[in-house]
Amino acid sequence: MCGIIGIVSKKSFSVKNDLLKGLKKLEYRGYDSCGFATKEGAVEKSVGEIQLLIDSVKDSTTTLGIGHSRWATHGGVTKANAHPHFNKDKTLFAVHNGIIENYQELKQMLEKNGYGFMSETDSEVIPHYFDYYIKKGLGIKDIMIKFMAEVKGTFAILLFRKEDGRVYAMKRDSPLVLGVCDDCFVLASDIYAFSDKTNKALFFDDNEFAIISSDYHFYNGNGKEIKKKIQNFEWSREEETKKNFEHFMLKEVHEQPAASRRLIESLKLMQKDALKSFAEAIKKSKRIFFLACGTSYHASLIGVYLLRKLGIEAHTVIASEFENFLAVDKDTLVVAISQSGETMDVVSVLKDIKKTGAKIISIVNVPYSTIQRLSDFSIEVLAGQEICVAATKSFTNQIVVMLAIAKELGFLINLDEIPGKIKKALEDNEEKVRKLALGLKDKKDIFVLGRGISYPIAREIALKLKEISYVHAEGMMGGELKHGTIALIEKGTPVISLIPNHNEDMISNTKEVEARGARTIIVSDTNGDLIVPKSHDAEFSIYACMIGHLLSYYIAKENKLPIDKPRNLAKSVTVK
Ligand code: F6R
Repeated sequence: MCGIIGIVSKKSFSVKNDLLKGLKKLEYRGYDSCGFATKEGAVEKSVGEIQLLIDSVKDSTTTLGIGHSRWATHGGVTKANAHPHFNKDKTLFAVHNGIIENYQELKQMLEKNGYGFMSETDSEVIPHYFDYYIKKGLGIKDIMIKFMAEVKGTFAILLFRKEDGRVYAMKRDSPLVLGVCDDCFVLASDIYAFSDKTNKALFFDDNEFAIISSDYHFYNGNGKEIKKKIQNFEWSREEETKKNFEHFMLKEVHEQPAASRRLIESLKLMQKDALKSFAEAIKKSKRIFFLACGTSYHASLIGVYLLRKLGIEAHTVIASEFENFLAVDKDTLVVAISQSGETMDVVSVLKDIKKTGAKIISIVNVPYSTIQRLSDFSIEVLAGQEICVAATKSFTNQIVVMLAIAKELGFLINLDEIPGKIKKALEDNEEKVRKLALGLKDKKDIFVLGRGISYPIAREIALKLKEISYVHAEGMMGGELKHGTIALIEKGTPVISLIPNHNEDMISNTKEVEARGARTIIVSDTNGDLIVPKSHDAEFSIYACMIGHLLSYYIAKENKLPIDKPRNLAKSVTVK
């Protein structure tokens, strides 16, 4: 995780308005602490959100600066551990996203040579390492080659020397992109940082480094110069403001009708061929594995249920456990699902899978992301930028892709009705859910039950309740409850039951908990506490999920929690 930015400009730019505002766009990648350094050697850091830093520093201008927004891995959330890190003389400054695995070894070597460390981070070895070899007489380019060979781990690094006018950038596994603007270059963890300035970018591949000043030069790990192609990207900027909503989460929840309509239209036109190729790949492959984490994993579970309904055997495994479960060969189709397209647990499995010759299809929201670039082809979910850490509209669109691929393979469904029904589910239930949240806001545990295609939604609603409302929640298979967990049900325990199409088994499971005093909340398309539009149970999953989005939002709002940036989390999880 962590967001990094660097600007090298022909003209002076404002530290607050350009560097820190650009950094703020990367804040969703981590928001424990932040900092920046400029060409003149000024460095400022602070714990907490970037806005605090913006409010506390006096504006200045410069022609080169780097910044960092941290999600802590090595070392606590302190000012000393915030980036940029620098050498003793304050002539070398570096920001880093990733983990230097052999930092202890490097640190020992540097300490033996008289270097002192001010932080507990792995990243602080970087400026000292460069300082050490500069003093030994090596040129920076040679030190970069040496660094890339010696350092184990993952990194996107930006480094500069005071008054030198160049940014030195290195990348392995963590994302890094160079935005080419009219009068400046912007280096950043992703395109959001500069999408208001340019739509031209160069994406770093692994083990590449670059030197950027008034022009740019890219090199492979051995120092051989390489030519890279500028890519044009498209990104809608209206997503970046909250409009009239108090939080990005609520805005993004309400964007779901429009976002799903945009996707459905694109699957009929722009992405029609990709959808067809996806269906062909499913038919041709001997084995089909989905690969995802968190919310995206729940979308993959829906994919598995749908394919099995069509008689196609498919499996899904949470990416961080993939290697312990599944073997892949050239006849395997791997479908990676990821909003960010950068999740390290998925990226690292895909890198191994690529060597086997298996076909990789990705379903991503962020275009040009690492996962998209690692795949044979990709379907974009077109949810637009999602700023709240919790996935909402991107998840809904992931399910729409699952339904569209099932339809392509013969499943009967009218996708065109979905956006309108999402709108109705929101309109009919928002006020009821807001009132319900008042009664649930002090509960310590909430259980969510589902069966079949609603089971992944039970898990998804529970995940949202945990991450946004900080309520312990469990999403369970309705049938599994009686095998142990029912022991936790007592008078007043809230249990949300997802009951599509008058599912008799779910009704029985609901009665079982009611008999033990549970306070049940029935989400149904027939009768219950919260009614969503009548539909097939595959579609019901989308509308029932709206209830979960709203409920977690309103409980969190009642409890005055930081909804868009919940504690300890980050939107793009680029560490293992
Ligand atoms: C939950 C959430 C996370 C992500 C997970 C995978 O709301 O957003 O669970 O789903 O970190 O992220 P992506 O989809 O970017 O691979």
